[in-house]
Amino acid sequence: MMIDPFCRNITYLRLSVTDRCDLRCVYCMAEDMQFLPKASILSLEELQRLSEAFVRKGVRKIRLTGGEPLVRRNVMSLVANLGRLVQAGELDELTLTTNGTQLAKHAEGLAAAGVRRLNVSLDSLRPERFQALTRWGRFEQVMQGIMAAKAAGLAIKINTVALKDANDDEFDDLVAWCGEHGFDLTFIETMPMGEIHSDRTEQYLPLSLVRSRLERRWTLSDNDYRTGGPARYVTVAETGRRIGFITPMTHNFCETCNRVRVTCTGTLYPCLGQEDATELAPVLRSSESDRLLEEAIDAGIAHKPKGHDFVIDRNARPAVSRHMSVTGG
Ligand code: 5AD
Ligand code: SF4
Repeated sequence: MMIDPFCRNITYLRLSVTDRCDLRCVYCMAEDMQFLPKASILSLEELQRLSEAFVRKGVRKIRLTGGEPLVRRNVMSLVANLGRLVQAGELDELTLTTNGTQLAKHAEGLAAAGVRRLNVSLDSLRPERFQALTRWGRFEQVMQGIMAAKAAGLAIKINTVALKDANDDEFDDLVAWCGEHGFDLTFIETMPMGEIHSDRTEQYLPLSLVRSRLERRWTLSDNDYRTGGPARYVTVAETGRRIGFITPMTHNFCETCNRVRVTCTGTLYPCLGQEDATELAPVLRSSESDRLLEEAIDAGIAHKPKGHDFVIDRNARPAVSRHMSVTGG
């Protein structure tokens, strides 16, 4: 078992398989984003070996993230291999966070591999606005992807970043649309991660406001559903679906944190909102045995901080210098 210094049991690994993405969401990246050199990226076999080490150490759930995980070449072979751990009962769940652009192609394969749930990022239901927010996205392509995933029987949770004056007039539409399709919905506050060449104070919208605005139209009741994540959920009486609120800025969600993150270069970040890191690639590559790797993982967990220090301030630099697309959401 991996127990951190604050007695939190680490059972959840979020593994970023690539920092690359085929979109350029305005709150996430600058348009001319520099990606990591390909040579520094772990192979799929190495990512698998890492995952298996974490599973032996007590991880029960793995989420593949990015960047966009489905743009990594041959990623489905990793999905299939990790899916076998689910079938063998060594892992409870394998999930993905995706922007949906490649889902039409991969939905069936994901379901066949044993993936049951997906988080799909979608910040707008209006094609032009969707394109403006993602810079490069095609709304229709993502809709086709989402519908393919639904048809393949995958449970879908839509992740929407709440952005002031950018998409805050369509939250009711999103709730209604998710209700129609049987999707859950989670709103996320913008977090100060990585330089984006624009001002995050202009985008920041506290979810307490989002919730009170939603309550003008919907009957929301608190709910103690937990996915092991930081979201707090309500049920919408009119649709029967859940809405989650991830409020890193207005609320500290760290007390029950059960997760760590590993990037595609094998950097273990015990916290999304701190710079502390342990490099696993050197130990992974230095020996065929996994003993050193497991020791390095233990050392990383021993450094898991109590929580993040996110602040959004006009003059402040981002709280962490790396982008969300490096550590995964
Ligand atoms: N703040 C909040 N959410 C972000 N995401 C990407 N960058 C940020 C940020 N700076 C979201 C994506 C996706 C999830 C993985 O994280 O939209 O839904
Ligand atoms: Fe890509 Fe997700 Fe970042 Fe958008 S938020 S640019 S989809 S990694």
